[in-house]
Order: sequence, then structure tokens, then C-alpha cells
Amino acid sequence: MVPDGKLEKIKDNVWKLEKDGNRFSVKRYHSNSTVMKVHRIHQALRSVSFPHIVDVIAQENQLTFVQPWLDGAKAVNFKKRADRTDSLAALHALHNTKAQLDWHASPYLHPYPLIAKWEDRIRKFREIGGECEAYIGKGHVDEILFYALNAIGAVKKTYKDNLDGTLLHGDVVHHNILRDKDGKIRFIDFDLASTGPAGTEIALWIHRVLPQIDYDIDYLFDEQPSLQKLDLASKTLLLFPNEVLREWLHFFTLSPFSRERQAKQLIPFTESALSHWPKLWYDVERINI
Ligand SMILES: Nc1ncnc2c1ncn2[C@@H]1O[C@H](COP(=O)(O)OP(=O)(O)OP(=O)(O)O)[C@@H](O)[C@H]1O
Ligand SMILES: [Mg+2]
Repeated sequence: MVPDGKLEKIKDNVWKLEKDGNRFSVKRYHSNSTVMKVHRIHQALRSVSFPHIVDVIAQENQLTFVQPWLDGAKAVNFKKRADRTDSLAALHALHNTKAQLDWHASPYLHPYPLIAKWEDRIRKFREIGGECEAYIGKGHVDEILFYALNAIGAVKKTYKDNLDGTLLHGDVVHHNILRDKDGKIRFIDFDLASTGPAGTEIALWIHRVLPQIDYDIDYLFDEQPSLQKLDLASKTLLLFPNEVLREWLHFFTLSPFSRERQAKQLIPFTESALSHWPKLWYDVERINI
């Protein structure tokens, strides 16, 4: 059951609710532990007046999570410098809450399973490789696997999952980072929150940003000086073709009709990524010196 009022479906599990002239987001969970985790994170962040979250409205139904709807809020656009700068500053602020909050003490938070997640992505990509060839050819499929396997090998040598541990949002895609009508950055959707090295999430944020800025890592590191402090293990994460793998795995969950449409974007996206990867690899090794 979701609260009564006028409901507009946003996604399978998310609605916009209008009640007594007020608007809310309503999210339905299937897992008690996830909704508890999300509640605890908001409580903890509110206790230190963390500014980049949205209030939570208490509910009787434990599996329903309600927040005020941010009228006029827009997902950040990583093509825009201001959105990159402000979302990165908000992410640093989130990670810096470890000075006030002992995230590792929370029984609801688990370490971010980076290596398991990425190995799983490679395994699944191998499974769809044959079908993928029909869209991008065997050469490109092999290239993606080549980069992914080389990167995961390098990552395994350097990655320490307990270094500089803090709260990670867990899903720093642009549509989970909203700019509200007053210009303030707000994180929503802490479903995948976990503990882990701050640098891991910064690298995941860079993965999201790079396709929007022609993979120009030098430009990004100049523009965002805080990135220059990134440790070697986190910089090594940049070698993994995370977005390409994720997008192709998602592609094969779509209906044939949606695939047809999506292929028109995903094929050039993949070709662009692969054409930039050798230079990206060179740049990452250079900034790692
Ligand atoms: N409080 C809010 N104010 C304004 N918009 C919101 C709010 N909560 C959610 N939304 C909108 O609804 C979308 C889906 O919400 P949410 O991210 O929580 O769901 P989700 O199922 O986890 O999505 P995904 O898995 O795609 O990230 C958001 O991307 C955002 O556009
Ligand atoms: Mg979301």
C-alpha cells in the first residue's frame, strides 16, 4: 500500500504523490534491510546537519519511504562545469562526514563489493559477447574484454578496500544527484550505500563524467584540483571500462523494440569510448607516476 492522494507513477517503485496541496516522492521497497539502511543514513546525516540530503517523512508502513518532492529540481548534467564542480564538492562533503560519524559501526552498511561487482560484470559480458558482436563486431567485443581484464588485474594489485573508509553513496549516476530550485545539490536514492574508500567513489564519479567531456582526463584534473589528491589505487580504477560494460549488460535486459532504439546511441558511445581508451590508459599511467 502507498499513502492515499493523487499518485503519478515515475518508475515501477517510485511515485509522485500530491496530497493537500503538497507533493512527495514515494518509494516502495521489497527489502526491510535496505529501507532501514536508507532511514539510518538519513538520520545520521541529519544529526550532523549534512546539507545535501532531502528530508524524510515518517511512515507507518516500513517498506514505504517518503520525502518532500523537490519542485523544479533537475538532475545534474556532467557536461556542465558547475554541475561537475558542485556535485564533486557535495560528494567530498559526504565522504568527510566520517570525521563526525562512525559509519563502520553501522550494522546496516557493508563494504562496497567493487572487485566482486566488476568480476561479475566481466563474467556476464562474456555471456552476452556473442550477441554483442552482432552490434559492434568481434573486434570491439574483444577490445572491451581486453581492457576490462587488464584493468581488473591492475586493480587487484593495488586495491585496498579499507583505505580511508567512509560512507559511499553507492550510485553516483547524474539522476541521483539533483540540483534543487535554490541551486543546492541534493543526493537521493541511497539504496546502494555502503562503506568503502572515498577514492573509490570519486573514481566511479569520474567514470560517469569522462564520456561527457571527451574522456579528457587532464582537463578534468586541471578543472577539479581536489582530484589531484586521488591515491594510486583509485586512479587505477579509471582503467576499467565500467560504463561500456554496464550499458551493454543493461541493453540485453531491454525488449527488442527498445534495443533497436538504444543501439543507435550505444554503438557510437562504445566506439567513442574504445577510440579514447588507449590515450586514457596512457594518461592514467602518466598521472600515476
Ligand atoms: N524527492 C524528490 N524530488 C524530486 N524528484 C525526485 C525525488 N525523489 C525521486 N525523484 C525522481 O524520481 C527518480 C527515481 O527515484 P529513485 O532514484 O529514488 O528511484 P530508483 O528506482 O532508485 O532509480 P534508479 O535505480 O534509476 O536510480 C529520480 O531520478 C528523480 O528524477
Ligand atoms: Mg535513482
